[in-house]
Amino acid sequence: MSITKEAELTGMKRVSEIVGTTLRMMREYAAIGMSTKELDAYGAAILKGYGAKSAPFETYGFPGFCCISVNEEVAHGIPSENKILKEGDLINIDVSAEFDGYWSDNGGSFVIGSDICNHQPLVDASRYILRKAIAKIRSGVLISDIGQIMESEANKMHFKVIRNLAGHGVGKSLHEEPENILNYRVRSNKERFRRNTTCAIETFISTTSTMAVVLSDGWTLVGNKGGYIAQHEHTVLVTDEEPVILTESNGIFM
Ligand code: CO
Ligand code: CO
Repeated sequence: MSITKEAELTGMKRVSEIVGTTLRMMREYAAIGMSTKELDAYGAAILKGYGAKSAPFETYGFPGFCCISVNEEVAHGIPSENKILKEGDLINIDVSAEFDGYWSDNGGSFVIGSDICNHQPLVDASRYILRKAIAKIRSGVLISDIGQIMESEANKMHFKVIRNLAGHGVGKSLHEEPENILNYRVRSNKERFRRNTTCAIETFISTTSTMAVVLSDGWTLVGNKGGYIAQHEHTVLVTDEEPVILTESNGIFM
């Protein structure tokens, strides 16, 4: 959305603080032996405590309140009592919600317990690339230039990017213009970041696959060629300087 009034900025800051805090608390609460359903219920209770509404549950009819994706799942993993977190699992939690008419979105991947499957380099790469990409965003910068930075940084570390998932504008709804802040350059895309707009910037860094495909449950996304994917996401306010990271409370950059 385009912020034109102080009240809109206040609204975006408030909902972003809520989703960021929820994500951080869920990450801290996640434990070996816990089901993803239990982790989701914990996140749902935090959102409810703030009076915020889960975006996937309320708007998209998602069978859960937060998306919790484990190992080969890329995104939109459905919380389940049969999915039990194990040592070394690669977990992604994505929390998006609405509060007082404003929407914000954030997510992050991490390894639970000791890194016995060596996922940490992928997680670190994704977080590093998000930081690098956000630092380059300014009003007037081409959206495709940010995509180019993401892909070239991934390639330098011998990773790939997922080509059919993207960041997006956010604010008055979960997904708005610009609709496709991709992790690679589309030369024909001349869209630029605009001052005082709010966007969800997210990475999809991959060991093997380049596309996400949906499983028969209609939700869960996995890679087309297998392997693992890490995602990190912040909602930011675009300015003439470095963006303001509205979801800073999620702690993924600490
Ligand atoms: Co998200
Ligand atoms: Co998003």
